[in-house]
Amino acid sequence: MTGTYAHAPGFIVGDRPKIVTSRFEYEDSYTLTRYLATDGYQGLRAALSRPANEVHDEVRTATVLGRGGAGFPAGTKWGLTPQGVYPRYLVVNGDESEPGTYKDRLLMERDPHQLIEGCLIACYAAGLSQCFLYIRGEMALAQERVAVALNDAYAAGYIGKNILGTHFSVDIVLHWGAGAYVVGEETALIESLEGNRGMPRLKPPFFPAANGLYGQPTIVNNVETLANLPWLMCNGAEAYTAIGTKTSPGTRMVAVSGHVKRPGVYEIVNGVTTFRDLLYKEEFCGGIRNNNELKAFVPGGGSAPWFTPDQLDLPFEGSQVGAAGSMLGSGAIMVMDETTDIPAAALTLTRFYAH
Ligand SMILES: Cc1cc2nc3c(=O)[nH]c(=O)nc-3n(C[C@H](O)[C@H](O)[C@H](O)COP(=O)(O)O)c2cc1C
Repeated sequence: MTGTYAHAPGFIVGDRPKIVTSRFEYEDSYTLTRYLATDGYQGLRAALSRPANEVHDEVRTATVLGRGGAGFPAGTKWGLTPQGVYPRYLVVNGDESEPGTYKDRLLMERDPHQLIEGCLIACYAAGLSQCFLYIRGEMALAQERVAVALNDAYAAGYIGKNILGTHFSVDIVLHWGAGAYVVGEETALIESLEGNRGMPRLKPPFFPAANGLYGQPTIVNNVETLANLPWLMCNGAEAYTAIGTKTSPGTRMVAVSGHVKRPGVYEIVNGVTTFRDLLYKEEFCGGIRNNNELKAFVPGGGSAPWFTPDQLDLPFEGSQVGAAGSMLGSGAIMVMDETTDIPAAALTLTRFYAH
């Protein structure tokens, strides 16, 4: 596939494009120094040099699908806020609590400036005046790294008043959750941000884009969704949609756990990579442990209906996985080999949700 996507060196490792994990190989990937040495904040500069509505259009054209679970395109969501109602907010969903999911944590720990830059681009494009970054309570290292990155970015003039000498100003507030699965749901997260018990609100009337944080229009986006924006601004929608398929462009991060030889987080090409590729290919998980038979796998986080080996050839494409009876959800694959006691595994998950 090399050559089908035109972008800066360092974004392709082996034969696979890397949009959000390109800095993971550096030990100091989370520092401002490394970020600036690897094109950091260039996407923001590119965005600020254009009118906000053009930047919004670029994100719309690229069809950046939400990576938090529902797969709703970010550009379309930003367009749902009512005209002329201000202030409006960006809330970053870093709660990541769906069982099996641990991709946003890595993005925050290893490349916090990429997320911050994504937040700034979103605020500029969608006219959002303040950003609240909500990080799950248990993620101590992510909180620490994001806090340091925010301080460094403020000191360097990337956040705050008149960013990079322009008329664009925005503040980013870091909020630590206390650790609750349900707070990952966007309206519960907003309740928690407001200082209330984190329980979901009724939709309607509480659709965040119209009636969100403090009753104002609010865009809630997932960490990975926003982390895509710096690359998109540097390389353009055409390069972005040249990766993956029309309905699922770009890449996505998937967290694989359970009975594979090499569990971990992999950035895969959206729409074309299949579950079989991911579980068996050497560049990914390298097969089932002890060369056992695969019995079942969870394709999209703990709340997704399970698949069996019959579905291994499905690609990471929402409508096909949906038609087969499950969902891609939060990008968490849990693998169970022939030794798994299926009722016991199901009971474990059911107990979690009951709790
Ligand atoms: C029970 C439940 C838990 C959720 N947990 C998360 C989560 O941990 N992280 C997340 O980003 N989205 C989670 N979501 C989805 C959010 O409500 C919301 O759709 C998402 O943050 C929007 O961001 P996106 O459009 O960028 O994907 C959850 C949804 C539900 C119903």
